[in-house]
Amino acid sequence: MHRIRVKALFDGAEQGQPVKVAGWVKSKRVSKKFAFLVINDGSCQTDLQVIVDSDKECFAKLESIGTGSSVSMFGELRKSPGKGQAWELHASDLEVLGESSSDYPLQKKGHSLEFLREIGHLRGRTNTFGAVYRVRNRLSFLVHQFFQGRGFLWAHTPILTASDCEGAGELFKVTTLDLANPPRNDEGGVDFSNDFFGKPTHLTVSGQLNAESMALSLGDVYTFGPTFRAENSNTTRHLSEFWMIEPEMAFANLRDDMLLAEEFLRYLFANIVNDCGDELEFLGKMYPDCDPQGIENMGSKNFARVSYTDAIKELSAVSSKFEFEPAWGVDLQTEHEKYLTEQVFSGPVIVTDYPKDIKAFYMKSNPDGKTVAAMDVLVPRIGEIIGGSQREDCYDALLDRVNGLDLPVEDLRWYLDLRSYGGCPHAGFGLGFERLVQYVTGMVNIRDVIPFPRAPKVIPF
Ligand code: 4AD
Ligand code: MG
Repeated sequence: MHRIRVKALFDGAEQGQPVKVAGWVKSKRVSKKFAFLVINDGSCQTDLQVIVDSDKECFAKLESIGTGSSVSMFGELRKSPGKGQAWELHASDLEVLGESSSDYPLQKKGHSLEFLREIGHLRGRTNTFGAVYRVRNRLSFLVHQFFQGRGFLWAHTPILTASDCEGAGELFKVTTLDLANPPRNDEGGVDFSNDFFGKPTHLTVSGQLNAESMALSLGDVYTFGPTFRAENSNTTRHLSEFWMIEPEMAFANLRDDMLLAEEFLRYLFANIVNDCGDELEFLGKMYPDCDPQGIENMGSKNFARVSYTDAIKELSAVSSKFEFEPAWGVDLQTEHEKYLTEQVFSGPVIVTDYPKDIKAFYMKSNPDGKTVAAMDVLVPRIGEIIGGSQREDCYDALLDRVNGLDLPVEDLRWYLDLRSYGGCPHAGFGLGFERLVQYVTGMVNIRDVIPFPRAPKVIPF
């Protein structure tokens, strides 16, 4: 007989059904007449209660079962008379697949999220992380479903790159040179012509530049993959390795971009609560920032829009509330973003037309010469969740920008080419996937929404 997942078992449960399941033991209680086991196999939020009568031969095997052991069991599914669960398994046979030492770190009492971060290799077995990881999985699926349903192609953009898309210099270098004794050039610097790719190479901070090339061939595309930033930010919203979704549309402007961002987020919010109801109900009870009803409502709410310039006016009027004084020409701080989305607009807000000097080189200049056709989507608790723009499609304007910022023109030749050979208005954005999962699950720290977080000095697993 094949093992059935606990989720499938509950979904199609029938009285008296013979089943085989496997999972990890969360608790065991043995009395003279019978034993109670609670097991979970990771497939759903609800645990399976197992009852083993003492007259069964397998009862003796219970001795070696401790919390954390893995077991497989065969038995009959019955409606449960007990409170808290609809079904229970009456086991007639069981096998201990893997014993668990008595120092198993997950005990029945609740553990702090900080402690669980230290045992990241086991935390997926807790109710909280099981829920978060399943929500994460389902959100990934919904991302693909949304774009595939609209005819966008999933473009696989490279992780190894020689360009710095965002121009912020937050790059992890990739090299096969001997760091203790690298080859030197005439000026005494490292001679990268001897390196693996023959020039300085690093992990990508964004797939956008390549996605633009794909969009200018295929129309509408999106990327969904890991990105890397060597940003020394020890905050609850930053990771050194995070996943980003970057749609890119040909024949589209900033308005189309904002519309896509809004419809995309609303689609995710509207569906995730239905798809992961048990998980979000659990998280909602445990964590004050998790509000499934609020997320679902967000699915039908129009996003507010405000220009950066108007946002600065709004913030300046209440500047005493902030640690950092809001000022035109300076990027919004998280405290400003939160104020806008939480206090001023009480919901998601799209801030547009940022000053040119604080944004990346590829954004399209506005006619005023001072701002660019950029947009950030801000949501309560998180602040910026999406950053995007219309792209500069005018060859001369882009070349001026590249030169003005002293970027390596030769390395960007191919990117400039896209403007010489049938360039067209195009636009896209990047959604930080972990910030989305954070927003939906109510996890305060971004390190709790990715199984193995990477952050400055943090790479234990
Ligand atoms: O605003 P960013 O830097 O935009 C880009 O990378 C563009 N190339 C996107 C595009 O237009 N195709 O990053 C996009 C989003 C942010 O809004 C944020 O949600 C997330 O990525 N993000 C991070 N998430 C976790 N940790 C970090 N260190 C992040 N940096 C950005
Ligand atoms: Mg940004």
